[in-house]
Formats: sequence, structure tokens, C-alpha cells
Amino acid sequence: MAIELHFTLILFSLFLVSSFTFPLPPILPRFPSSAVSAELKQRSHSAPNTPYRTKFFTQILDHFNFNPQSNHVFQQRYLINDTFWGGAKNNAPIFVYTGNEGNIEWFTENTGFMFENAPSFHALLVFIEHRFYGKSIPFGGNRKVAYANATTLGYLSSTQALADYATLIIDLKKNLSATDSPVVVFGGSYGGMLAAWFRMKYPHVAIGALASSAPILQFMDLVSPDIFNSIISQDFRSESENCYKVLKGSWKLIEQTANKPEGLELLQKSFRICKSNDFGAGSLEGWLRTAWVYTAMTDYPTPSNFLNPLPAYPIKKMCEAIEGTEKGKNDELEKLYAAVSLFYNYTGTATCFDLDDDSDPHDLGGWQWQACTEMIMPVGGSNKHSIFPEYKWSYEDRESSCQFFYNVTPRPHWITTEFGGHAIQTVLKSSASNIIFFNGLRDPWSGGGVLKNISKTIVALVEKSGAHHVDLRYSTKEDPKWLKDVRKQEIKIIASWISQYHQDLHSNN
Ligand SMILES: *[C@@H]1O[C@H](CO)[C@@H](O)[C@H](O)[C@H]1NC(C)=O
Ligand SMILES: *[C@@H]1O[C@H](CO)[C@@H](O)[C@H](O)[C@H]1NC(C)=O
Ligand SMILES: *[C@@H]1O[C@H](CO)[C@@H](O)[C@H](O)[C@H]1NC(C)=O
Ligand SMILES: *[C@@H]1O[C@H](CO)[C@@H](O)[C@H](O)[C@H]1NC(C)=O
Ligand SMILES: *[C@@H]1O[C@H](CO)[C@@H](O)[C@H](O)[C@H]1NC(C)=O
Repeated sequence: MAIELHFTLILFSLFLVSSFTFPLPPILPRFPSSAVSAELKQRSHSAPNTPYRTKFFTQILDHFNFNPQSNHVFQQRYLINDTFWGGAKNNAPIFVYTGNEGNIEWFTENTGFMFENAPSFHALLVFIEHRFYGKSIPFGGNRKVAYANATTLGYLSSTQALADYATLIIDLKKNLSATDSPVVVFGGSYGGMLAAWFRMKYPHVAIGALASSAPILQFMDLVSPDIFNSIISQDFRSESENCYKVLKGSWKLIEQTANKPEGLELLQKSFRICKSNDFGAGSLEGWLRTAWVYTAMTDYPTPSNFLNPLPAYPIKKMCEAIEGTEKGKNDELEKLYAAVSLFYNYTGTATCFDLDDDSDPHDLGGWQWQACTEMIMPVGGSNKHSIFPEYKWSYEDRESSCQFFYNVTPRPHWITTEFGGHAIQTVLKSSASNIIFFNGLRDPWSGGGVLKNISKTIVALVEKSGAHHVDLRYSTKEDPKWLKDVRKQEIKIIASWISQYHQDLHSNN
């Protein structure tokens, strides 16, 4: 969006490219896959030994319409691991991951929490893929048709996805003769929003939800559109004032350089950008912005490889590069190059950076449609304290992009109509229970998260040093104490839901 930013949740910011330099967006930017390293792309194409079996379920295309056409079905993929399951006879629990906007296999790699805790809970593990992503493509699995236009994409929505999950879980339990096994749902990011909403809407299907970094309040009239960028800015500023200043000043520096004779060539050379016909200040800025956003989201305390391989505490490392403490760099462009290289070239394998690459290794592209229909999440505004140029987020810009691109008009208030959001404290207190909302305050998405305890059973776990769904990641020996403590607390709470459920089951029989 040229002007507009669409953020995919996990990935939330995928559509950052060229955000603020053009007055009007010709089309919505595509997933800037230059954000994803070559190794990662390869990895997602190879099929290593995966810790689950893959299954397909014949799913109803339209759960909310009985006209004969709506009976169309599609094959929905789910992954299952029964190695640790205590079985139907024992009413052993079922842990379900409510898939988000991407290939479900990728989410399993980032949800070690479920694998690591399945043995002690004797839990069955199930990961369900979101419709229109990965291999769960309606219209006979024909991606071209499914993504053709608003007529076919119309079936891509969160309410349909939740209904898919309920339908599949109920059918699976029937097949396993495990009707009485309690289901706990898990999710991170958009998947976390789905997990929380699933518990609210389908309390008879899931006894509780762990919603990690789930910005269910990041909607119109609920939070400031500036909050996302404010958190990123604060992340860098808390490392050093100078780091903040260099980033803040970089946009002007780039514009000024670009306007000089041979300036574009200099920029291209300074940042080791591959040959490109479209190279300009705008594409460079979008590329830098993407790196700052994703690094803030994944500012984990241990080395990680979620979007790209990164060291522990990457923001700190970037600021060190900017400070010039590394390799004695002095030139401002060189410093920025060193900082951005941390995100795009940590493994040191990039020969040059390809800003034109628009491949989408995790299959996140469908988010663009969601961001044009119901997921109107105001993100991307910048106030004068931001490291990004000042920018006022506007719903009208989103609307015109979406009309142009899909010929669709968003329904900006549908999500709060369907799931609530206003006065969430009082509403959830009386209408829901058994939800854990985890948020790490380094994560820009925490601005739209539930950060206060709502009731005895709707608990907000908030960590100052945490980033995007860090709690769900595989544990490591280097994990800091606060992270171990969060996980312990989550396990304890989930165990209490299950034990309460078993008690109630016995006393009712
Ligand atoms: C289930 O996960 C565990 C732990 O990752 C793995 O060792 C096991 O092989 C998996 N089971 C199946 C059936 O894939
Ligand atoms: C939308 O795409 C489908 C599948 O390609 C096609 O059959 C249909 O005619 C298209 N509808 C519109 C309004 O373009
Ligand atoms: C349950 O079993 C039926 C019959 O074998 C099968 O068609 C269906 O896909 C199964 N459900 C799930 C969720 O796997
Ligand atoms: C990536 O890092 C390696 C090792 O430091 C370096 O040789 C290479 O030039 C870097 N690539 C780019 C595009 O900067
Ligand atoms: C919510 O309550 C739990 C105890 O149940 C506590 O550990 C946690 O710190 C509280 N969260 C907030 C944000 O106060």
C-alpha cells in the first residue's frame, strides 16, 4: 500500500514495502519475500522427517448458507501426533493448534510448547490448517480459481475458519471415540486470536485457550494506529538514544542521497542490492522498514529462525552495528547496511539483496484479502517520536486500495460486531472463562493485546522482555528465567482446566 500497510499477523507486516513514499498505491504491495532468506525458502520446500502424520478432512465450503451451491466441499489438511496420547478410555486431552495465515507445517516448527508438554499431559496433538492456505485450498485445490476474485475469495474469513475447526474437531473426536476428551486450543498471533475467539464462540468444543500474542483489540476505535510503530521505536530507543536517532534520521538521508546525481547507484551499492529495474528510495525504505519491524517482533532472548535466522537479542545487535562498535564502521549508510544485514544476512550466505523477489515461502499471501475485508487492523501510523516518518493511518486509504485491488469494500466493524472488543473487561468477565493471553511488551503487536487480568480464569501474562509468541517456541537451555516461569504458569493453568473438567465429568456421571 503505497500508503497503506497491511500486516499479516505472524507476519504481520508483510505489506510494508513502499509504504509511505508514494501518494497513492497502484496496487497493494506483495509479500516482500526478500524478508525471508534463501535457506529458509529451501527448507520449506524440502520435506524432512516431520513429527506428525498428515491427514485431510472433507470440509464444508460455506457453513452459514444452505443454498445447494454452498454445499461444495474442499480438502482441509490437518497434522496429528498421537505418540503421547493417553487414549479415549482415559479421556486424555487433545491439544489443537488453530492454524493461522500460512502453511500449517511452518507453525508446527514454531510451536514446540505443544510438543514438549504433550508427554506430561498425555495429550493428542492436532494442528489444523486455515482454509485458503497451504494445502487447504477450496475449489478442488486449485489455487488459481480460489484466489481468482472476490466471488471465490469470499469464503476466506475467520468465522468460516472457526466453523471449520469446530466441525473437524467434533468429527475427529467421534472417529476416535473420544467424545469426552477435553480439547484445549492454542495459537500464536492471528492463530492466537482464533484460539481466543474459538473458546468464546465454541465453549462446548474447547475447554480453554492459550492465546499467545493475539492482538484481538487491534481494531478500529480500540487502540491508537500509532501504537505498533511506537513500540518498535521504543524497542530501539531503549537500547540507545543514538541508535534511535540514526534510524529516525535514515529516511531523510536516503531521500537526500537518492536525489543527488548518481545517488541511487550509491545507495544500491552501499546496501549491496542486486541489479534491479525498479530500485528506488521507496523500495529501499520498505526493505529497511520490514527489517526493523520483524526484528522487533522476533527480538527473542535466544538465537532463532522464525522469519530469518537471527542471533539472540537482535535489536541490541543491530544497535551495536549502528553504534559503529562493530568493525569500526563510521559512515551512516555503512552503519545502516550493517544493521539491516543482521536481519537479511545473519548466516553470511547472501551474495546480494534481491528487493524484487516476491516469492512467498510460507504461503502468507491470502492475508491480503483478509486485510481487505474484516481484518482492518489500524497499524502503521507514526507520531513524531517514531523511528518511521510521521504518517497518519487512514481507513479511507485502506478502503480505496481494497476497492482497487479486489473490488471489495472492507467491513471495518465486523470483527468487533462478531467477537466484541469494546469494554472487553466487563464483557468477557461475565461471558467467558479459561483463556490465557500472553504478551511480550517488546512485540509491537502487544499494543492490541489483552494486558490486564479479566477474571480468575481469564488471565493476562505480560512480560516486559518478551517478543512475538516467544512462549510457544521450543525451549532451549539458554532460556531466561522469566520465560521458563511464563511457561510453567501456563502449564499450571492448563492443568487446572483439565483437572476441573475431569472432576465435573465424574460428578455429572
Ligand atoms: C510426535 O512428536 C514427537 C516429539 O517431537 C516425535 O518424537 C514423534 O515421532 C512424533 N510422532 C509421530 C507419530 O509423528
Ligand atoms: C471469478 O473467478 C471464477 C473462477 O475463475 C470465475 O468462474 C468467475 O467468472 C469470476 N467472477 C468474476 C465476477 O469475475
Ligand atoms: C472420520 O472418519 C471418516 C470415515 O473414515 C472420514 O471420512 C473422516 O475424514 C474422518 N474425520 C477426520 C476428522 O479425520
Ligand atoms: C553476507 O555476509 C557475508 C559474510 O559476512 C559477506 O561476505 C557478504 O558480502 C554479505 N552479503 C551481502 C549481500 O552483504
Ligand atoms: C494475572 O494474574 C496472574 C495470577 O493468576 C498473575 O501471575 C499475573 O501477573 C497477572 N497479570 C497481570 C497483568 O497483572
